[in-house]
Amino acid sequence: MIVVTTPTGQIGRRVVELLRQADEPVRVIARDPAKVRGVDVVAGSHRDPAVLRKALDGARSLFLLVPPDRQSTDVTEQYVSYARAAAATASRIVAVSSIGRGYPEPAGALAAAWAMDDVIEASGADYRSLRPAYFMENLLAGAGMIRDEGVFPQPLDADRPLPLTATEDIAATAARLLRDSTWSGQDSVPLVSPDDLTPAGMAEVMADVLGRPVTYRQQSIAEYRSMLDGFGLSGSFVAALTEMARAQNDGVYGYGRQPAARTGTSFRDWLRTSSIAATPEGARTRVRPHS
Ligand SMILES: NC(=O)c1ccc[n+]([C@@H]2O[C@H](COP(=O)([O-])OP(=O)(O)OC[C@H]3O[C@@H](n4cnc5c(N)ncnc54)[C@H](OP(=O)(O)O)[C@@H]3O)[C@@H](O)[C@H]2O)c1
Repeated sequence: MIVVTTPTGQIGRRVVELLRQADEPVRVIARDPAKVRGVDVVAGSHRDPAVLRKALDGARSLFLLVPPDRQSTDVTEQYVSYARAAAATASRIVAVSSIGRGYPEPAGALAAAWAMDDVIEASGADYRSLRPAYFMENLLAGAGMIRDEGVFPQPLDADRPLPLTATEDIAATAARLLRDSTWSGQDSVPLVSPDDLTPAGMAEVMADVLGRPVTYRQQSIAEYRSMLDGFGLSGSFVAALTEMARAQNDGVYGYGRQPAARTGTSFRDWLRTSSIAATPEGARTRVRPHS
């Protein structure tokens, strides 16, 4: 039995699908069991050790993902609290962290994920820390602007390479490790796509795939922060995202152990099938070029 947290999230949902396709017995933890069908469900949050203990009864491994909490009053404590609950109840864990561990400056949400690693490692559990880079799916929030206005805005330096990861590759690696009972001890698994693109280079790929001009526009950190404030996020969450953007512009992803090989989905392939370039049916969206 494998226990999967966040079965309604973009990574957790796919982990469940892949495990079920492989005929693995799966149990999920969900705040709203009605949202998950066809699997054994334990109701509640995986921040609660009692819920985890119940779900892990007779189980061999746990897939752990700390949910983003836009209202968090302390983002690091939030990650650590989920890690503590998992570390107290599970002896074999695969969790989603981030590359760049070892970066010596503040790194916001990235540092919170490494604090999660610290807690799990200290517990002595068998552990695989998945270390993806910047999710390609982060771009979906601005899909309309890219597709309809030809503008790709981010608070990131235009010409600094930005390592990328498709969440499909995270889910596939998680499912593989969860099914594999041969590994033990603690290790990290960097997950970075075969691309070597800067944000400006990503805009060029977008223009090519969409068949229309797309311009990269670097937002200042102040502009980015004020945009986030406008979304009604907590101060701690805004600080975590802006610190992360600063760290990304300082080359945070170059720290720590680097991937032996860049593998998985390329940005171009991801983009072609994403809602930025495709309708939900998979057909290409017709876009009028700028006049
Ligand atoms: N974005 C990046 O570039 C990046 C890079 C590296 C690592 N990461 C990490 O990736 C993770 C985000 O993964 P994702 O995009 O798959 O997340 P996601 O799609 O936003 O999924 C969030 C999930 O968490 C659940 N959830 C929300 N609040 C909860 C709570 N209080 N208790 C229990 N469950 C709760 C949601 O379930 P409900 O149905 O109950 O709402 C949902 O299943 C974060 O840990 C982040 O640090 C992100």
